This record gives sequence, structure tokens and C-alpha cells, in this order.
Amino acid sequence: MTVTAVVGAQWGDEAKGKIVDVHCQDAAIVARFNGGDNAGHTVVNRYGVFKLRLTPNGFYNPKTICVIGPGVVINLATLIAEIEMIQKSGIDLVGRLWVSPRCHVIMPYHPMLESVYEEAKGSGRTGTTRRGIGPVYADKVSYNGIRLVDLANETVFAEKLRVQLALKNPIFQAFGQETLNMDAVLQEKNRQFARIRGVVREPFGLLQAALVKGDNILLEGAQAALLDNVWGTYPYVTASNTLAGGAAAGLGLAPRWIDRVIGVTKAYTTRVGAGPMPTELLDQNGQVLLNEGQEFGTVTGRPRRCGWFDAALVRFTAQLNGMTELVLTKLDVLDTLPVLKICVGYRSNLDLQRIWEYWEGDARWLDTIEPVYVEIEGWQQSTRLVRDFSHLPMQAQAYVRRIEQLVGVRISMVSVGPDREEIIPVS
Ligand code: GDP
Ligand code: IMO
Ligand code: MG
Repeated sequence: MTVTAVVGAQWGDEAKGKIVDVHCQDAAIVARFNGGDNAGHTVVNRYGVFKLRLTPNGFYNPKTICVIGPGVVINLATLIAEIEMIQKSGIDLVGRLWVSPRCHVIMPYHPMLESVYEEAKGSGRTGTTRRGIGPVYADKVSYNGIRLVDLANETVFAEKLRVQLALKNPIFQAFGQETLNMDAVLQEKNRQFARIRGVVREPFGLLQAALVKGDNILLEGAQAALLDNVWGTYPYVTASNTLAGGAAAGLGLAPRWIDRVIGVTKAYTTRVGAGPMPTELLDQNGQVLLNEGQEFGTVTGRPRRCGWFDAALVRFTAQLNGMTELVLTKLDVLDTLPVLKICVGYRSNLDLQRIWEYWEGDARWLDTIEPVYVEIEGWQQSTRLVRDFSHLPMQAQAYVRRIEQLVGVRISMVSVGPDREEIIPVS
């Protein structure tokens, strides 16, 4: 049996959804442990194209149970829409979906508060997905949250909501915004909760039994290491713990059970939203990555910022996560470029004599450093149909091996297209 965590090694959208799909064939459980519907995980397989924001990617296999652990925050409308979408594609999910009653619920005031914060910060804003993720986690840690278990009891819910609206409406008033009506929110949430009540049940016992039985379990990370609330480029981060270690807290699964950590990284770098990105390309090469990679946000549709592969960054996130292997995705996006660059470290004015590491300073410092690159010859031919590593152009093989060497983690797979089948095992 293996407990495998699949986590993002950069700033998100590395194709974690696809890699979970590739690995979920023999998983008894696939579980999400962090984030909310700020995530958008795309899966392309024989059942169709799915862009999932809350539901773990295991439902194609009738034997797999999908778990949304207590570390996840729930937007009820999104969950309802996803369950319906999956049912419409002919897959019966309801009996196989377990959502922890401990999950905190995104209330209408959370995205509203987030807008107030983002607007107040002006050009210093994080550039969030505006799903209310920061405010719902803030309420969670300050004991102001409303959980699914609270919605299960209408009296408890009404009282908690009354207190929260008494706290939040004056803020909206102060910023010249409409206030929220208690009855309207109450009715909407009660109606939504009634539709998902059947899937709200604590998965803790199920997980513990699976561990003892020796079942395969997949832990599906959302967001990525550089968006982690502690280790990311704060304050240009998300609110949850996105690292493999976050799976322990987010699911109630002791760290000793996790025996495999797959870091997913693109063969280049992207980022949505604000914050430092040392290898960002504002030139023609950046345009090629944007167009070839179709780099537009799954949740917001925003164009993603694109740049060269940053090995210094991924070396850091490999250490943070204890990656046992790396999966390199979207190699095909580089197919047309004549020359590629890989960042191996940074130069800082603080001391020009040495190469600096990513973790040595904060987000402001990262904005001032210059990447140090090595150049690699491109292959300028399509890799989309290749399924055997030795059939990749020699330059592409060299590129993969160089990344492996610079990051210091074995690359186990290379992805050359969105489809489940477009994958190359690497030995
Ligand atoms: P996630 O959030 O990490 O699951 O990633 P997203 O789904 O947000 O973004 C990854 C995008 O790249 C999706 O549109 C995938 O269909 C697509 N994709 C995945 N793997 C590959 C690949 O190897 N090549 C190309 N060209 N696209 C890919
Ligand atoms: P997946 O799981 C890429 C980014 C936002 C913003 C910052 C904070 O699909 O990889 P938030 O709404 O979480 O408060 O926004 O984090 N962000 C993501 N970027 N992929 C994601 O998820 C992201 N989830 C959040 O763009 O910069
Ligand atoms: Mg995504």
C-alpha cells in the first residue's frame, strides 16, 4: 500500500489534476486536504474534460471514494454544481463522496470582505481569485467560522450568522457597500445545505480503516508550495497550508503514513496574480509560453504570467515537501523554442560575490534579485506523440536530465499533452 501526496511545486496550475488522474486507477481513496474553489484542476480522459474545483479526482473509478477533508473550505454552490456535472456525465458520485462536517463554509460576506481588502490595498493587492478564501480561513482561525456541522442545525446556524452579520455589516456600511440581509442568507444556505446534506459525514474513520487495511490513498494538493501561507511569497499567497505536511493537519492523517510525495512542476514557470516571479518573461518568449501553453486561469480566466523554469525555486519546494519524485508537465509547450534557459540561483545587490537561494529573503527582496541562467539548446520538433523517453529528441532528454540534476529529485514522468494518455514514464 502507498499513501501518496500530489502537490504543486511552483505557483499552481502545474497539472496536478491530470497527475492525480494518472495515479488514481488503483486508489481506494482520493482526498483533498486544503484550499477551496480557488483551485481549478483539469482532467482530460475518456469520460470528457472536467475542471474541478472542490471534488477530488477519483470519481472515474467506481471503487474509489472521494474525500473532502476538514482542511478544505466549502462554497456550497460550487459543490452542488460539481456534483450535478459529474452525475450528468453518467458517473454516480453521491454514495462515494464524503465531506467532513468540520469543513468551514464560505458565506456571502467572505468574497465581499475580500473585495474591500483588495481595493483598500490598491496596487499592493494580492490579486486573489475573489472566492473569499482569505476571509473564510481568517474566520476559522479567529473562532468566527461557520462549519457544515453548524448548518446541520438551523438554530445554531441562525445564531452564528446573526453574530457574524452584526460584525460584518458595519464594515460594509463603512465602505459604502450594501449590507447583507439575515433572512436572505439564512434561506439560501439552508436550501443549499439541504441539497448536500447526504454527503456530509466525517471521513476520519474511513481513512483510518483504509490505512490499517493497507489501501492505496492519494492526497490531492491544491494551489502550490510558493502559495503556501507560511513558506510562499507572503502576502502574495493563499490562506491554506499547501505543502505535503498540510495533508496531515487537513485530513487528520499522521505524517508517518505518507510514504510518497509527488511534486508536480511545469517545464517552465507560471503565476496568476501579483507577487515576485524572478524568471518572468515580458518578451516574445513569454508570449510563446502563454499561447502554446494556453496559460489562462481555470477559475478566473486571467492570463498567467509566464517565464523560464526556475530550478532554484523548485529545489526549495522539493525540500519543503520532502518530494520523493518530480513529474515534469507541459514539456510540449517548449517544442518551438530554439533556446531555453533554466534559472540556477540569484544575484543580489546585498552581496554580488555569491549565488543566493530563494528562501533567503521575503517577497520584496525577491523582487530585487536577478536570476542566473544556464542556456540549453531547444529541440524544435513536436513531442506530443512521444510515449517512450528514449524517443524524445536528445535536446529534450538533456533538458529533463538537467532539471533533475539541478533540483536534486528524480523525475518519474514527463507530460506532453493534456490527455491522460499523453505521458512518458522516466526510469
Ligand atoms: P492544476 O490546477 O495543477 O490541476 O492545473 P490546471 O488544470 O489549472 O492547469 C493545467 C492545464 O494544462 C490544464 O488546462 C491541462 O489540461 C493542461 N495540461 C496538463 N498537462 C499538460 C501537458 O503536458 N501539456 C499541455 N500542453 N497541457 C497540459
Ligand atoms: P490550483 O489548485 C494558481 C493564487 C491567486 C492569488 C493567490 C491568492 O488550481 O493550482 P486566493 O483566491 O487563494 O486567496 O488567491 O493565490 N491562486 C492560485 N493560482 N492555481 C491555484 O490553484 C490557485 N489558487 C489560488 O491567483 O495570486
Ligand atoms: Mg489550476
